[in-house]
Amino acid sequence: MKKINPTAYQRIVFFTGAGMSAESGVPTYRGAGGIWRAYDFAEYACQEAFERNPEKVLRFHELRRQAVLDCQPHAGHRVIAGMPEAFVVTQNIDGMHQRAGSEGVIELHGSLWRLRCERCGAAREDYGRKYETLRCECGHWLRPAITWFGDMLDEAVMRKASEIIDSCDLFIGIGTSGTVWPAAGFPELAWQAGAHCIEINPEPSGEACYHQSIRGKAGSVLPELFAAEQ
Ligand code: OAD
Repeated sequence: MKKINPTAYQRIVFFTGAGMSAESGVPTYRGAGGIWRAYDFAEYACQEAFERNPEKVLRFHELRRQAVLDCQPHAGHRVIAGMPEAFVVTQNIDGMHQRAGSEGVIELHGSLWRLRCERCGAAREDYGRKYETLRCECGHWLRPAITWFGDMLDEAVMRKASEIIDSCDLFIGIGTSGTVWPAAGFPELAWQAGAHCIEINPEPSGEACYHQSIRGKAGSVLPELFAAEQ
């Protein structure tokens, strides 16, 4: 595998999906063992489900929080965190990059560790295994600050991610099936911006705009790819 010297690039973007956390033990969404095979998103991950039964939806997310807290960031997360000048744009809501030490992570689909009130607009960070409270101080149910099916992405977050990707010269897409839009358009944006585009995924993702596809796992490929040359 040809190694990458990060100092040869002005702006590096790591674009990550569920496969980035797979070796930590966090289940992916699609494929064998995927969350959407075990759970119907219409019951747990859309606004309608929340309005029908907020407590059921909150308890589902609480279980996901507990599952994530039982997992640890792996060597691949640490390689990325070791490059503080690089940008991390993630579809993941698990906060694993931050736990490895990455700062300024752009979370396209929100976070398992934030809640918001749709009545008074309050926002709340909450990191425990159990939610501290399911209700806002105003008495309304708190909603996980996550982009669910049918939700619009946060425009400001999208704009920031697009601007960064549009001016990067190395783009590394890791562990994403490229099926969920608009994030699935980011590799093409990087490609059109003239960046060198590399994919790390044990399976073909179907995205055509990578100069190089490394068929391997994030936790072993990243340390090898960025190992200093002897
Ligand atoms: P998916 O579950 O769709 O895809 C995971 C990808 O990771 C697949 O292409 C796998 O081949 C790959 N993969 C598995 N293990 C890997 C490993 N060890 N190293 C590298 N790659 C590996 O996950 P996403 O593409 O992230 O949205 O899904 C996108 C969005 O769909 C999620 O953010 C979520 C979901 O619905 C929301 O929650 C809004």
